Amino acid sequence: MNKRILNCLTNKKYKGIPVWFMRQAGRHLPEFKNIRDKNPNFINLCLNSKLSSEISIQPAKRYDLDGVIIFSDILLINYALGQNVVFKKSVGPILNDFKIDKLLEIEEDEFIKKLKPVYQAINKVKNKIKKNQTLICFAGAPWTLLVYMLNQKSPAKNFNTEKILKDNFLINLILKKLDSFICLHLEKQIEAGAEICQVFDSWAGIVPKKKLYNYCYVPNLKISHYLKKKKIPSIFFPKGLSYNSKTFVDIVRPNCISIDSAIDPIWARKSFNNISIQGGLDPKYLLKSKSEITKEAIKYLKIFKNYNYIFNLGHGVLPTTNPEKILHLIKTVRNFK
Ligand code: CP3
Repeated sequence: MNKRILNCLTNKKYKGIPVWFMRQAGRHLPEFKNIRDKNPNFINLCLNSKLSSEISIQPAKRYDLDGVIIFSDILLINYALGQNVVFKKSVGPILNDFKIDKLLEIEEDEFIKKLKPVYQAINKVKNKIKKNQTLICFAGAPWTLLVYMLNQKSPAKNFNTEKILKDNFLINLILKKLDSFICLHLEKQIEAGAEICQVFDSWAGIVPKKKLYNYCYVPNLKISHYLKKKKIPSIFFPKGLSYNSKTFVDIVRPNCISIDSAIDPIWARKSFNNISIQGGLDPKYLLKSKSEITKEAIKYLKIFKNYNYIFNLGHGVLPTTNPEKILHLIKTVRNFK
């Protein structure tokens, strides 16, 4: 069986180059937008296992992919921990005020019960994908979830570090709590039929330098350690760490590191010895011409030739991406010799 992604992570033999895309489900697909328009409440859509399983499979129907990622969201953990989340059109997620006492009280059973539809969706998807495809589940890393929890919206425009991170004791308490629920959520998803997991630390790049150990490396190490104990293969995506991603890899030791577009792929290949590497290609290339896409893809393919490399992007597929361009990119990967 040529399960390329799983085999790449576990150092087993496989033929060809594994390929899938972050945020391949939803966002750019017209068939997703069709379902989304009829389901204005995004959290409810994620928790509708019939629809979320269908959305997960949509990209695999159009494209020749090695990976199917479950349609869900990293903020479902915040939701299951009692923080209300709504997704506003062209604004993004808006979260309720969060109460620390509520967070400390939450029971595992209650948390699992709230997220049960996610596990049911995974079970449905598992029975519908091809034998060579790897089913991927995911979670946000503690820091990234904490950022949304405290900032109550995306930190893209404003994140007042001083104001938000003033209480060290509280931050560490929340990170610890998040860590254990993230591990639980990943384990439940694997039990339901997912084969590997990806941990998104999308906002690792805004951790104050002095806090990288406590807020980024250590919480991710705890997850990585937990997954290894359970023999669950993992990909970690600490976005925006630049050269600090070497320290991240040395400490966290995931099976695979996903690199963003700012990381020099030649440096990555030389620096991250003995672990798989994923991604890198700037998703903005998918908005350019086919010849520009080919050129950039070949660059990554050549650099990572004869390496345990998973072809992917440096971040998620952009909403304005034309599916034709993704078809073209996959063809380029498949034809590379
Ligand atoms: O990869 C996939 O296709 C599977 C599903 C998936 C979604 N979100 C669905 C989604 C995954 C893996 C995520 C991860 C996620 N969610 C991250 C980490 C990855 C990254 O991009 O850095 C983050 C930071 C979030 C939080 C989040 N969810 C934001 C900021 C937004 C709004 C803007 C955006 O990115 O689209 C979402 C909404 C969201 N999550 C949508 C989808 C398909 C769009 C919902 C809509 O139609 O309004």
